[in-house]
Amino acid sequence: MASFLATILLASAAVATPLAAIPVDAAAPSDATYEVLSSNWAGAVLRKDADTFKAVTGSFKVPKPTGSGSAAIWVGIDGADCGVILQTGVDATIKNGQVSYSSWYEWFPDPSHVFTGIEFSAGDEVTLTATAHSNTTGTVTIENKTKNKKVSSDVSSSHALCQKDAEWIVEDYSSGGLVQFDNFGTVTFTNNVATTASGTVGPAGAQIWDISHNGTQLTHSSVSNGNVIIKHS
Ligand SMILES: *[C@@H]1O[C@H](CO)[C@@H](O)[C@H](O)[C@H]1NC(C)=O
Ligand SMILES: *[C@@H]1O[C@H](CO)[C@@H](O)[C@H](O)[C@H]1NC(C)=O
Ligand SMILES: *[C@@H]1O[C@H](CO)[C@@H](O)[C@H](O)[C@H]1NC(C)=O
Repeated sequence: MASFLATILLASAAVATPLAAIPVDAAAPSDATYEVLSSNWAGAVLRKDADTFKAVTGSFKVPKPTGSGSAAIWVGIDGADCGVILQTGVDATIKNGQVSYSSWYEWFPDPSHVFTGIEFSAGDEVTLTATAHSNTTGTVTIENKTKNKKVSSDVSSSHALCQKDAEWIVEDYSSGGLVQFDNFGTVTFTNNVATTASGTVGPAGAQIWDISHNGTQLTHSSVSNGNVIIKHS
């Protein structure tokens, strides 16, 4: 996926936004029973035929990271089987002991955009939704349920989605190379729904993805009772 990485490095240099969620960097087997190790994605990925997924949503409690670095918590359509992604999420960052959050959306490979007008604190209940109205238009929404605050944006791109994947992810994202991955503790996505032409599905049976750097596994993900649980190890 070196070409995707090159694309996003150029994009982030041009717009100076620090976040860059990119397609998964893994040789992904298509057998759903395998856990996939990747350098950047941890979580659960539903993988179906083209033109399947219309929307994906999930909620999580904003974690308080420790250590140093950042992690992007997001939901999205595509990226595992199609080099385009419609996604939205929250970055949890810690630098010199200072915790900060920033929320964003992106139609990869187009540059990402920061949401303004919404802030987060550890423990907030946040709902993320990415909806594809067609393969080139969509809407992304982030809601801080704790304070009944919502931001939303309509997005479009010349890069058509395949609508093959729906995912719930914690990412070690790229900003001139992989950022230092902080210890986000545990992120549990709840109320997870992916909408298809023929109804809704949850993450049961999704493929499990975990992050491994140089042979050291940094996350342990699972799906249980419809929740996607991603633990930093
Ligand atoms: C979300 O709710 C929490 C808890 O009430 C609050 O600390 C945070 O600032 C809220 N964010 C917004 C955008 O209101
Ligand atoms: C996107 O949708 C259009 C119109 O339905 C279709 O012609 C095109 O093949 C789709 N592109 C992809 C990549 O699926
Ligand atoms: C893996 O190891 C190499 C060589 O020691 C190092 O340069 C690189 O930064 C490491 N990668 C990660 C993701 O830790």
